[in-house]
Amino acid sequence: MSVEFNSPYTVFIDEAERRVTVLDQRLLPHRVEHVDLKNAQEAAEAIRDMTVRGAPLIGVTGAAGMALAADESTETGFLIEAANLLKSARPTAVNLNWAVDFMLKRLKGMEPDRRRKAAWHLAAEICEQERTMSIRLAKHAQTIIEALYLKLGRPLNILTHCNAGKLATVELGTATAGIYTAFEAGIPLTVYADETRPRLQGTLTAWELKAAGIPVCLIADNAGGELMREGGIDLVIVGADRIAANGDTANKIGTYLKALAAADNQIPFYVAAPISTFDWTAKSGGDIPIENRSGDEIRWVRGVDKHGQEAEVCITDPGIATVNPGFDVTPARLITGFITDRGVFALEDLKDLRMNSHV
Ligand code: MRU
Repeated sequence: MSVEFNSPYTVFIDEAERRVTVLDQRLLPHRVEHVDLKNAQEAAEAIRDMTVRGAPLIGVTGAAGMALAADESTETGFLIEAANLLKSARPTAVNLNWAVDFMLKRLKGMEPDRRRKAAWHLAAEICEQERTMSIRLAKHAQTIIEALYLKLGRPLNILTHCNAGKLATVELGTATAGIYTAFEAGIPLTVYADETRPRLQGTLTAWELKAAGIPVCLIADNAGGELMREGGIDLVIVGADRIAANGDTANKIGTYLKALAAADNQIPFYVAAPISTFDWTAKSGGDIPIENRSGDEIRWVRGVDKHGQEAEVCITDPGIATVNPGFDVTPARLITGFITDRGVFALEDLKDLRMNSHV
């Protein structure tokens, strides 16, 4: 039982109608449904319960939440409360803080009459900005993929973790951006998508790549190391939720282990992220808050049975204790380079990016 990806949009901000619609990612890949977010509270809830997910996308949804808040009240206090509510929805992806703070800073001093219109315009602009960043990032990632293809002279095998694809953004994704464009440019490649327990975002990556006709292979999280040791992976590209000033990178839980395996096998390991994912105030990974999520995500798995019926099954003794960090930090020393919308940066050149980091 499967439904087509068919390029469902992840978020739509209708500036004229003052309406926000998002794809409900909790239902994927079995059902494609969109929901309207009616107020800032609903936007915060959609981020918290992962109706929307992926760092750039939750940033855009946060901005949309601020536009909804500006609609709800003309009080500056209300706007500040909404900003705090939205930012507290999920702690790790800095794009959320970035987008909400940007909106608040611009709207706070405005006359209430102007504010509502400006809020919707700014939210739509942030959405558009994420789209263009994704397209620019793709160009730089494609250069790396092309160079590797020329060097090896055979089809490439690329591993990715989590979903840093179209579904995590508003356009081509981050980790997948260059994969889409390189494939379209004729470079033969296969993507190995880590399943990404416990929320299985890798199944979303496999789903969206398959829909684009890109050869993709879904693998269990534990398989990556062995594939790398056997020589079955040429390149690893992952997304990021927050990159500290020293290059330490928070990304979906399990990324660190893939970086270790890549380093041990001399496989290039790239982090792909737009400028909105860099947090220059975080000196190192130790300053990045790591989200702790409910143990039920480990105990229960959602899916459909062979008759297409949606079901949730418990896969362990439900009384067993769990620890469920949503993200981990990959130390900068394990990262070959950072693919951004401003170009590709080696660790020692991150200071140049920082100097030019005005978004
Ligand atoms: O918990 P999620 O699904 O919101 O996780 C975010 C991610 O999708 C990833 O960590 C991703 O690699 C970075 S966002 C492009």
